[in-house]
Amino acid sequence: MKKQHVLNCMFSAWYPQFKHVSIKSKVLPCPKDFHDYLMSDGSLVLPQSDTDDSSDDENVGENNEREARVPHFPEFNSKVKDTIEELGGNVFPKLNWSSPRDATWIAFNGSLKCSCPNDVYLLLKSSDYVTHDLTKPFSGCADDGQDSIEVQYELVLRKWRNVIEGMEFRVFVRNRNIIGISQRHYTNHYPHIDKMKVEIQQEIEDFFKEHIQQTFPDDNFIMDVYRRKEECILVIDFNPFGESTDPLLYSWEELHASNDVPVAVPLAEDGDACLGIAQCGLLRYVKSSLGILPNPMHMHRMPQDFLDLRSGADVNKLVDFLQMERQSQDKNSGNKNK
Ligand SMILES: Nc1ncnc2c1ncn2[C@@H]1O[C@H](COP(=O)(O)OP(=O)(O)OP(=O)(O)O)[C@@H](O)[C@H]1O
Ligand SMILES: [Mg+2]
Repeated sequence: MKKQHVLNCMFSAWYPQFKHVSIKSKVLPCPKDFHDYLMSDGSLVLPQSDTDDSSDDENVGENNEREARVPHFPEFNSKVKDTIEELGGNVFPKLNWSSPRDATWIAFNGSLKCSCPNDVYLLLKSSDYVTHDLTKPFSGCADDGQDSIEVQYELVLRKWRNVIEGMEFRVFVRNRNIIGISQRHYTNHYPHIDKMKVEIQQEIEDFFKEHIQQTFPDDNFIMDVYRRKEECILVIDFNPFGESTDPLLYSWEELHASNDVPVAVPLAEDGDACLGIAQCGLLRYVKSSLGILPNPMHMHRMPQDFLDLRSGADVNKLVDFLQMERQSQDKNSGNKNK
């Protein structure tokens, strides 16, 4: 994998050519003040929202202090706001390559659906994937370190669609041929995939031949697609053909060893077909709940105890927490009375 392959998968590089088969989106080049904000360390501070009332006398002192730290990029902020409106009021955000998928837990609605600029900034500032785009986009490239490339950073806002995750697939392309297709969310078992495996595969192959095979700038790449409804495939994203992209139900060993022919059916060590994972032609999918793998996004979640406390789901934890609070207050008031 070379830097040029990564650059060809940058959103603004592929979108103009394939927008007729993708989700409506806008690309906003990041000005320096916004880029500085994304790069800045320290505690997370969101820009002041339009509804903040800074004329309130009681808050003047506090506001002056806050203003020193509050990020300020009013021009870009109003562009983001207008673009959200233009795209129907709800958007899915990403930077040049990555969405803040690992930060979903921090959003108030527990999703990447953003309806105002601050929703977007909160996700971007909380995501390690976005930081990776900003700090080492070419890591893993054979020519990383040679001829440094100045990346023009961009905020991508995509019209929010209610994507049905069981209808998303990742397509592995080598020498302009599909060598494998994997269900995109491999930590779930979707019974409909097994029922529709022949149609799904055929439609993806037809779509690839008609729109992508001869036009994408590289011979090797990975394409994410969404089967929105029968005979309607959309491109969600392109990713470089290399270890930085998750091989999902495949392994990089298999993909590299395939010698441009479709990857064979997976076998367990004892030579039997892998439990719970099936392959029909090019399409690999989870056939039963035995094939479900752990969800890597759970690594990024808030600890379960916090979630239970927040939702009040576990009464015993709430009681323990209140008792701890009480003890600490008693201790503090005891200290003060000394
Ligand atoms: N416009 C949208 N509206 C709603 N959900 C979306 C939209 N675009 C993408 N998604 C959802 O978010 C997921 C991740 O999107 P995308 O592939 O663009 O992110 P990514 O960061 O490039 O992921 P990866 O690191 O796997 O390449 C998709 O699989 C899809 O479920
Ligand atoms: Mg991607």
